[in-house]
Amino acid sequence: MHDRGESVLEARHLRQSYGARQVLDDLSLDIGRGEIYALLGGNGAGKSTTLNIFLGFVRPDSGSARLCGIDPSAEPDRARAMLAYVPENVALYEHLSALENVDYFLHLAGADRDRETVIDPALDAVGLSADARDRRVGGFSKGMRQKVAIALALARHVPVLLLDEPTSGLDPRATGEFNALLQAARARNITTLMATHDLLSAAAVADRIGFLRDGRLDEEVAAGGGARFDVEALFRRYSEPRGRAAA
Ligand SMILES: Nc1ncnc2c1ncn2[C@@H]1O[C@H](COP(=O)(O)OP(=O)(O)O)[C@@H](O)[C@H]1O
Ligand SMILES: [Mg+2]
Repeated sequence: MHDRGESVLEARHLRQSYGARQVLDDLSLDIGRGEIYALLGGNGAGKSTTLNIFLGFVRPDSGSARLCGIDPSAEPDRARAMLAYVPENVALYEHLSALENVDYFLHLAGADRDRETVIDPALDAVGLSADARDRRVGGFSKGMRQKVAIALALARHVPVLLLDEPTSGLDPRATGEFNALLQAARARNITTLMATHDLLSAAAVADRIGFLRDGRLDEEVAAGGGARFDVEALFRRYSEPRGRAAA
């Protein structure tokens, strides 16, 4: 399990506004190595903005972020070399097969792309079947696209996985497979930050859930795969309108 002493993703007093709209208001986060952390919040709560700060796409108005000790605002390329980002809709080369996509992205990243020792084991780990590997990804479902993206992350040996709304639009079976993927990533000590509005999915897979409300962390709960806490009580509390930022 993770060791909180070794913080892989760290946010300190982040503030971010767009025009008159303050999106993040003193957000601080500390995510340890090997931890699966779900950042939960409604539409417009600032989840994607937080991910974009770790990605170095958004420079916060104030406060700071660190990813493996690197400031993504100052050194975006170094920070991005440490992470894999899985957006809500994974963009792949539609006319290439799953295998060719992984091979090509590894080539772009300047990473080792040996089929036998790197690519096949990564595709095995995410459970992409042998026949699916050679099919063009043009017809792939969202769940299969995520498998390709996570296989790429495993093949690159990145320590950090950032996911934006990974379970929206997945059916229950694909959600189950996705949860297993994250457990496989955790078994390799990968640190995962997933932004989601889906409490049940967060509860099923996350070690910790942070509730983002009014631009800051309203509450954090240890989830531990859903077994150790009362999802229903949490759901009621989470659903209360109290101070909830309007989208
Ligand atoms: N580049 C931008 N310019 C202006 N407003 C933005 C920009 N990015 C996000 N916002 C606004 O900031 C708020 C938070 O957005 P976002 O971080 O995407 O929330 P979430 O991912 O939690 O739904 C929303 O009201 C959104 O419209
Ligand atoms: Mg979002």
